[in-house]
Amino acid sequence: MKAFLFVTDLDHTLVGNDKALVELSEILSQHRQEYGTKIVYSTGRSPLLYRELQVEQNLLQPDALVCSVGTEIYLNHSDTPDAEWSDILASGWNRELIFSVTQSFPELEPQPDSEQRPFKVSFFLKEEFADKILPQIETKLQKYGLNIKLIYSSGIDLDIVPHKSDKGQAMQFLRQKWKFAAEQTVVCGDSGNDIALFAVGNERGIIVGNARPELLKWHTEYPADYRYLAQDDCAGGILEGLKYFGFL
Ligand code: GLC
Ligand code: MG
Repeated sequence: MKAFLFVTDLDHTLVGNDKALVELSEILSQHRQEYGTKIVYSTGRSPLLYRELQVEQNLLQPDALVCSVGTEIYLNHSDTPDAEWSDILASGWNRELIFSVTQSFPELEPQPDSEQRPFKVSFFLKEEFADKILPQIETKLQKYGLNIKLIYSSGIDLDIVPHKSDKGQAMQFLRQKWKFAAEQTVVCGDSGNDIALFAVGNERGIIVGNARPELLKWHTEYPADYRYLAQDDCAGGILEGLKYFGFL
């Protein structure tokens, strides 16, 4: 057995199957102690909503926490986001302008204040409007010279983030910092904002059995032999995938 970099989404990926979560947490914690495996959570949640889930589910302390869809990286249990990463995202980013431009779309309902972050502007957008409205929003924002990316998840959540940022790029930033090969890295997810984790390179990928249609559709369009579609849900599917790739 060898150290690996374990990167997982939280809602409906690590969390959602209580029995399997207890089992997986024990195995990961031991692997970290014995081999130096690193554990990273990568969530769309703000630090505030992350802490709620951490307490509720008694989650292991991660070695790094990636919040707000890849736009904030917290290392060594720090309360301050990594400045090197923030600096990379800051150039050309203008959240006030994004807010004002998006006001002309009545279909967009702002998410709660806690989820509006320095490098993330978030709305609820009903699925029935998404196909039509998303390209229009993108075109309009680009007209203003805004270098952004739209990430739509779970048929409801729309995140607008800097172009250089998503869960995939944040994962690679950590992978390079800690010098893990792509083959010794595994990423796990269930929904739209996790596509970036699977798409950015050839890290091993585990799609949990309960994955959302948007991720399954993408996986069917871009299949890869370094990606595993699990049978079981959430942490159960992760365990299955870790065994499939020989990490356990
Ligand atoms: C989490 C965040 C929300 C975001 C969603 C999808 O639910 O709280 O702001 O839109 O993830 O990334
Ligand atoms: Mg999820």
